[in-house]
Amino acid sequence: MDKPNVVLGVSGGIAAYKACELLRRLTESGHDVRVVPTASALHFVGEATWSALSGHPAGTEVWESVHEVPHVRIGQRADLVVVAPATADMLAKAAHGLADDLLTNTLLTARCPVVFAPAMHTEMWENAATQENVATLRRRGAIVIEPAVGRLTGVDTGKGRLPEPGEIFEVCRRVLARGAEGAAADLAGRHVVVSAGGTREPLDPVRYLGNRSSGKQGYALARTAVARGARVTLVAANSELPDPAGADVVHVGTAVQLREAVLKAAADADAVVMAAAVADFRPAHYAEGKIKKRDGAEPEPVALVRNPDVLAELSAERARPGQVVVGFAAETDHVLENGRAKLARKGCDLLVVNEVGERRTFGSETNEAVVLAPDGTETPVPYGPKEALADTVWDLVARRLA
Ligand code: CTP
Repeated sequence: MDKPNVVLGVSGGIAAYKACELLRRLTESGHDVRVVPTASALHFVGEATWSALSGHPAGTEVWESVHEVPHVRIGQRADLVVVAPATADMLAKAAHGLADDLLTNTLLTARCPVVFAPAMHTEMWENAATQENVATLRRRGAIVIEPAVGRLTGVDTGKGRLPEPGEIFEVCRRVLARGAEGAAADLAGRHVVVSAGGTREPLDPVRYLGNRSSGKQGYALARTAVARGARVTLVAANSELPDPAGADVVHVGTAVQLREAVLKAAADADAVVMAAAVADFRPAHYAEGKIKKRDGAEPEPVALVRNPDVLAELSAERARPGQVVVGFAAETDHVLENGRAKLARKGCDLLVVNEVGERRTFGSETNEAVVLAPDGTETPVPYGPKEALADTVWDLVARRLA
């Protein structure tokens, strides 16, 4: 089989050095990558590096190898164009259809999915001009992934960092897979909220009641939604996983904190997917100092109180008309029967039911589930990667939003 053709566009920001790692990941996983830097990008990383790593010339202008008509052919042949880093200037040119070098020409001729991974200072990212250019590109079906928050050039920190190359690679992989189905950006223009991980309810400064959720299913939901063009808020409870590229991540600890973060993000969301394992109860009392054992004495019983049920609350009071609310249910027995009852009790639009046990689901890379809907439909999702289940959830959500 032919290798997928990827164009890696590199514009002139310091994060250009990170694109070398993205290039390596793409080539090592069997993609034929053509790097198209801008002239400014070459101030940061030279042409020799790009051509040596990609095995192709890496010119910046349309006047080189003119007989091969590169300004048209490179875009036409591409299965995916990814621009990383995408500077404010590059986003502006792309949004306005300018074509003054090889990369901007390529963007105009490409008919395949296009991913932009912006990187710039926070002020430039937040500038109304940049935000409008990003909105324009998204409206036209491009996938513009949100920059990460963190250290920027110099001493500044804030939003504007290029996400980790490994995470951008994951977005590219997902977009390529979906591009073949012709539905790369079916969540473009949508805001989705995903909760992930497991809450921890503190007993004292060193102990908590928790659960075994790894967060992998919720992170897979966030990652796949980014690759389908959505703006994603991920509310992550105690997960060790790296922040997915392009998602706004809010880290929380307890059920009460998770509720607050989810409700806030849900205010303007088109869909909310509650994949987090939220503790139903929390200790009634929090000991300010560490609870000590006393010789010979029986331990004190731990009194519990109910936590708010976030899924039921979201379902009962939709923040927006037509908002799609999705719940998850982990059951050990009578899986479908319990699932149906839970769907009715919680009042959500879809409930993903899976069977859990000692060896199943927790921490694993795979899942098997059935998605239940109130009209009685059941969508079985065969045993497979958590991303496949995530895509099925988004297929069902996208259908409801359409
Ligand atoms: N959930 C929630 N808030 C809670 C508890 C759960 O939003 N306090 C959400 C989870 O994110 C998940 C779904 O509800 O989407 C799972 O509910 P679960 O706790 O499994 O169901 P329960 O109604 O608590 O039923 P049971 O514990 O009896 O199985």
